[in-house]
Amino acid sequence: MKLPELKIGSLTARIPLIQGGMSIRVSTSSLAVPVAECGGIGTIGGSAIPVDELQEDIRRAKSQTSGIIAVNIMYAMREFYELVMGSIEAGVDMIITGAGFSRDIFKIGHKFNVPIVSIVSSPSFAKLAEKLGAAAIVVEAAEAGGHLGTQTKLRDLFPSVRKVISKVPLIAAGGITNGFEMAELMDKYGADGIQIASRFVLSKECSVSQKFKEVFLGAEKDDIVLVSSPVGLPGRAIKTPFVEKMIRGEDVSAKECKYQCLKKCSYKYCINDRLMMSHGGNVEDGLVFSGANTFKMKEILSVREIFNRFVQEAESVYREKK
Ligand SMILES: Cc1cc2nc3c(=O)[nH]c(=O)nc-3n(C[C@H](O)[C@H](O)[C@H](O)COP(=O)(O)O)c2cc1C
Repeated sequence: MKLPELKIGSLTARIPLIQGGMSIRVSTSSLAVPVAECGGIGTIGGSAIPVDELQEDIRRAKSQTSGIIAVNIMYAMREFYELVMGSIEAGVDMIITGAGFSRDIFKIGHKFNVPIVSIVSSPSFAKLAEKLGAAAIVVEAAEAGGHLGTQTKLRDLFPSVRKVISKVPLIAAGGITNGFEMAELMDKYGADGIQIASRFVLSKECSVSQKFKEVFLGAEKDDIVLVSSPVGLPGRAIKTPFVEKMIRGEDVSAKECKYQCLKKCSYKYCINDRLMMSHGGNVEDGLVFSGANTFKMKEILSVREIFNRFVQEAESVYREKK
């Protein structure tokens, strides 16, 4: 059976699939545009990059597709409001936000008619987001990559949120690797769509270095671990030599703070530098965020191929919401 569309505010995605935002410069317009062209929601990672760079990338994306372009901005960012306002000014279609909770963002979304999508990891924050005016809610579970707000797995967490949310679309995120799981979450668990990120790192269009993608391709189950992040949340990453150093308790701290990117930083290490190192190919010293199920994915595909597979697999088993 055909998958349903995903309606968020006045926007309609033909395929109920959001490409999760990935900072720093992991999901740029080069990934978000083909996702939007395939009928999903393409998300530019908007955290910890200069506002003018983000604006330029949003404008580039908007000039290349008439599909939906979102931006993901973490509340933990010192420049959260500047990044939000800059994205709106550049014409972004949707703002997706997590890693902390902003109450004011909903008023801004309302004022500028931009749907706000909240990423949450508990029923209580989901309810609060719905009450304050979120246009949709992403339930992000323990299997997700990057910063985590819970240790509860998707199939345990999602039903508790589904129970309390009835007015806005509810999206499942964390560890989804194929269309059969997409159908399972939509059909059996009542999700209105899914958000996936790690699958898109292994796409031809993702702009990270080949070495970054090779770390993804080579990861075994036990190589994907939890690390502490200066943001103050645990993060899920692949065991690179840098992560091994941290596990051994070696001093990995930065000598100076160059970016002032976070509202509150533990200064344990410079996350901005470490993410940029791996982005550029220095995977020995860099941090490589990844979902827990990356070890199941062993191919680099084009975004079009990823969509075709997900849709074919999902539609071969999808029945409908109970
Ligand atoms: C490399 C990487 C970077 C990420 N960066 C962000 C981010 O900046 N903001 C955010 O809200 N989520 C971020 N995430 C989480 C994803 O958007 C997504 O919700 C999650 O990874 C979904 O799980 P999956 O990767 O198993 O599909 C990141 C994930 C990865 C793998």
